[in-house]
Amino acid sequence: MKWILVPAVFAVVAGLAGVAFANGKDVLEFPNAKGTVIFSHAKHEKLADSDCKVCHENQVGAIRAFGKAYAHRVCIGCHEPEAGKMEGPITCEGCHQTP
Ligand code: HEC
Ligand code: HEC
Ligand code: HEC
Repeated sequence: MKWILVPAVFAVVAGLAGVAFANGKDVLEFPNAKGTVIFSHAKHEKLADSDCKVCHENQVGAIRAFGKAYAHRVCIGCHEPEAGKMEGPITCEGCHQTP
């Protein structure tokens, strides 16, 4: 059910907010001073077992507080096998691609 509905919601919301879901691939790009972060939303939905609240702490959709502090807490916090989490990039360059 979700898998049918979600891409349609993305298309509409992304269109309005200008979020870059590149070519329907569900990939978000976050350009910033440290280097663009390329984030696969679809892949991460699966990694989070479709538990949207892992990242959307309050409600699903645009994350008003999104930025360095939020991302480093929520994203890096789940990339740490030492803390019993899954293994994802924890080095700066693992996420920030040089512009
Ligand atoms: C691993 C983290 C993560 C998970 C899990 C996740 N999202 Fe997201 N999602 C994000 C991020 C980051 C953004 C971009 C937020 C922003 O720029 O405001 C986003 C954006 C969105 C947007 C677009 C909002 C906009 O501004 O256009 C929608 C809709 C959305 N997510 C729905 C979902 C749904 C539904 C689920 C659960 C099935 C989910 N997300 C799970 C991280 C996640
Ligand atoms: C549910 C735990 C979890 C959360 C939350 C999470 N990640 Fe990940 N992430 C992973 C795992 C696991 C991998 C490794 C996936 C693989 O190797 O296929 C990964 C891989 C990545 C990669 C490497 C490229 C790729 O797609 O494999 C990037 C970049 C990334 N994550 C960015 C983010 C960002 C940005 C956020 C926050 C918006 C985030 N992650 C939140 C678990 C998570
Ligand atoms: C898991 C992925 C990930 C890792 C690892 C990571 N970052 Fe980030 N970082 C992000 C995301 C996502 C943002 C928010 C981008 C946005 O607001 O559009 C961000 C934002 C930032 C910003 C703010 C840039 C600006 O324009 O305001 C700085 C600076 C930064 N990170 C530095 C670092 C440094 C230094 C490291 C290594 C110690 C690091 N990051 C590791 C994902 C990551």
